[in-house]
Amino acid sequence: MIDRYAMGNVPWDDTLPPPEVMAVAAKLAPGRALDLGCGYGRSAIYLARQGWQVDGIDYVPQAVAGAAARAAVGGLSARTCFHQASVATLDFLQPAYDLALDVGCLHNLDKDERQSYADGLRRLLRAGGVYLLYVRLRQPGVVPENGPRGMLETAVRTRFADGFVLENVEHGVTQVEGQPVWDSAWFYFRRHAGMAAAS
Ligand SMILES: C[S@@+](CC[C@H](N)C(=O)[O-])C[C@H]1O[C@@H](n2cnc3c(N)ncnc32)[C@H](O)[C@@H]1O
Repeated sequence: MIDRYAMGNVPWDDTLPPPEVMAVAAKLAPGRALDLGCGYGRSAIYLARQGWQVDGIDYVPQAVAGAAARAAVGGLSARTCFHQASVATLDFLQPAYDLALDVGCLHNLDKDERQSYADGLRRLLRAGGVYLLYVRLRQPGVVPENGPRGMLETAVRTRFADGFVLENVEHGVTQVEGQPVWDSAWFYFRRHAGMAAAS
């Protein structure tokens, strides 16, 4: 990933977040949001413009610096904080968040990192909070040749079965220039009502 940013090979770079992110934000009152694998911060900056207080996490220094610079240009520095860190080590963040987003990060992680990520998210997201996840899907027995690892849909469901309710899944495909079309999906989770954010 660091190489991709260094080479300017960042096909997800856009001024606006995906429509799915905007649609979810439109249904919620602004609060605290967490953008996991924020890249150049297109979702975080959009949410901040809508009145949210947003923490963006990315392990690539160039991504975090770029996101902070873009937020500053938009006059949104006070509503955004970009952290250079792994999404598998979220201990430095304090609950509770009302919304967590992941647009294309989780499917890059290995099994242990995914476990730590899920544990962190369970701690941070408030009861009733929304977790919106975009994932590259893969079929059983097939390992993608290009791009991120991808995840089995069953693995996504299992990973968040503890503490989250899956309210909706939207299946689709993703086309990245120069790569084969991927199966992908948007997962709409909600943190179990009745569970404390810090449990
Ligand atoms: C496909 S990009 C999407 C970026 C952003 N979510 C967007 O929609 O513009 C995935 C991002 O996840 C970040 N990422 C991948 N693994 C990570 C990890 N372990 N910790 C933090 N960020 C990670 C990458 O650096 C990259 O910026």
